[in-house]
This record gives sequence, C-alpha cells and structure tokens, in this order.
Amino acid sequence: MSYLIISASLNPKSRSCLLAREALLELTKLGYSADWIDLVDEDLPLCDGDSVFEDERVIRMRERITKAEGILLAVPVYNFYASAAAKNLLELGGNAWKEKVVGFLCAAGGKASYMGPVSLANSLMLDFRCWIVPRFVYALGSDFDGEKLTDPKIRERIFTLVSEWVRLVEALRDSRSRTL
Ligand SMILES: Cc1cc2nc3c(=O)[nH]c(=O)nc-3n(C[C@H](O)[C@H](O)[C@H](O)COP(=O)(O)O)c2cc1C
Repeated sequence: MSYLIISASLNPKSRSCLLAREALLELTKLGYSADWIDLVDEDLPLCDGDSVFEDERVIRMRERITKAEGILLAVPVYNFYASAAAKNLLELGGNAWKEKVVGFLCAAGGKASYMGPVSLANSLMLDFRCWIVPRFVYALGSDFDGEKLTDPKIRERIFTLVSEWVRLVEALRDSRSRTL
C-alpha cells in the first residue's frame, strides 16, 4: 500500500482524527486508497530503546510504515509541540520512516502553536531523509461543530495538502523508476 494515514491522537473524541478522516475522503475522491492507523486502537508501548523493538505490536506497526511511500500524520498539539504519542511513533518506527513523503494535519486549542509539528518534521527530514509536504493543515476547536468539521477554509487546505502529497509521492516514484 503506497499511502498511509495515521491518526496519532489517543483521545477517542479527537479532532485531528476528524481531519485525518477528511483527508482519507479526499484521497479516495482522487482515486487512491490508503492504509489507515488510529493509535486509539493500537495500544502501542512507550519507546524504551531496548526490548520494545521485539514487541509484536511495534513490529507490525513498523511493517505498515515501511510499506508506505507517503504518510499523513494527524497530530494533536500539546505544550506547543506534537503530542508525545506522535513522537513515540517516530521513536518506535525508526528507520521504517526512511524517505517517506510526510504531510501534517494538526488540531490545536489556539493559534499560537502553529509551528507545533516542526520538531517532528525536523527529525523526519534530518534523521530519515523524508520529504515534508510544505503545507500543514492547522485547525482550532472553532473550526468544528461537535464531530463535524465546518470551516470551508480548512476543508480546502486538506484538499490542497492531499493533492500536493499525492503529487510528490507519484513524482518521486516516477523519477526513481527512470533513474534505476
Ligand atoms: C495536555 C494538553 C496540552 C495542550 N497544549 C496545547 C498547546 O500547547 N497549544 C494549543 O494550541 N493547544 C493545546 N492543547 C489543546 C489541544 O491541542 C486540542 O485539544 C486538540 O484538539 C487536541 O487534538 P485531538 O483533539 O486530536 O486530541 C492541549 C491539550 C492538552 C490536553
């Protein structure tokens, strides 16, 4: 499976998960399918840098990340950064993240944390040579009405993010096949 969408919130009423679902819908409309991971369902252990890498749940997760060429990460912003659960996913995944095209969708409480996902982006770029889609989706509570995303501008940004993400994945695949 070339495309993977990960909802990295552990909150069962997560707003970033709603953003991820919208992104999946847009991807489907463009004619592509994706693997889907919701961390609420995964019960992943915290990274201890040791025996955790032999854990079946971690091995399965790494396999699914490895298979993807493009990954969309939907993350909650906590304490001005991406949440610890999202970072844990990078720690557990390690080299499985190598050379992916990664895009971000963020849910936050306020406008001031808009650079929240950048620390994850840095690690993905510098440790794992990922291509980061230079368009983030950043949504606030006021962009939703209960479990529904209501702001048309956020919808438009999701569409743009997904389109650019697909364009990058397909272009890189194409260029690899021409240079091999
Ligand atoms: C522990 C904690 C820390 C938070 N820190 C921030 C923050 O620094 N900046 C911000 O804009 N929102 C912050 N929020 C609000 C969350 O970003 C917001 O609730 C968002 O919807 C969480 O994503 P989720 O709904 O996908 O879980 C925080 C929420 C929690 C629970």
